[in-house]
Amino acid sequence: MSEARQQKDKDYWQAVVRSADIKAKPKRILFDGTPLVLFRSAQGIAALFDRCAHRLVELSTGKVISGEIECPYHGWRYNGEGRCTAIPGHVGDVPHYRVRRYSAIERDGVVFVSAGTPQGEPYRHLVRVEVTGGKGWVESCYTGENRQQGLVSRLLEGERARTIGRYRHPGIVELEYWGKGGLALATTFHLRQADERTVEGVGWLIGPRQGLFGELKALAFRPLFAFALQQDRRVLKSASDNARIPPQVQPATGPLDFLRRDIAAIIDGKMPPAAAEPRVHQIEL
Ligand code: FES
Repeated sequence: MSEARQQKDKDYWQAVVRSADIKAKPKRILFDGTPLVLFRSAQGIAALFDRCAHRLVELSTGKVISGEIECPYHGWRYNGEGRCTAIPGHVGDVPHYRVRRYSAIERDGVVFVSAGTPQGEPYRHLVRVEVTGGKGWVESCYTGENRQQGLVSRLLEGERARTIGRYRHPGIVELEYWGKGGLALATTFHLRQADERTVEGVGWLIGPRQGLFGELKALAFRPLFAFALQQDRRVLKSASDNARIPPQVQPATGPLDFLRRDIAAIIDGKMPPAAAEPRVHQIEL
């Protein structure tokens, strides 16, 4: 196996202990057969190879002092990066000694460790977002979401390969969930400005015909769908009421509002910027 491949195989996070288990004292664990010492350093949770560079004593039997771990034998100290910062009795700069450091992070009350350099956070991964457009339409296509998919949506849609969100003139919003075998689920809303303050619409939920199983899925999905719509309606009403309080300002366009400029251009009767220049973004889920 190539070195790059071997490295990639290590680029995952693994939960090792509860955060509450790492208190003032260091803790030794075995990680893939390697002893590690976990302790709270100045930069957060740290994981080092549990062996002092000096006489190979277990660092985990030492103490944590000011966010550094001190070896119990001759007192060499190491910071969270694994670099030796102090040698008792030594005059002058500390020579370059170190012990191997492992990536470590705390999330949701759990300590995760990795022997590689994983991108992103535990449970999260990168999703690619491709934005394309043309006269009167713009869409964003999300790929790489399947690992993030919950049990309910797996049951309703099957394994998800990509999701497409599309806006079409004059106020049509479409969402499509594509599985490995084709379109698994879609929604379409035709929205219109009913009066100055109200948008009304008609929507469909569309899925493949699957006989009784399809009927059951639709039955299961309907209350969830109604609940999501109700929540949306409540939030939008409260935002609309809130926006009327002076001073009146324009809402901000966030870094993940990928289609906002394009939709504004389409509403203005112009070509969306994505038509001339398709874009690719990455988001973390
Ligand atoms: S063995 Fe650790 S300081 Fe000597």
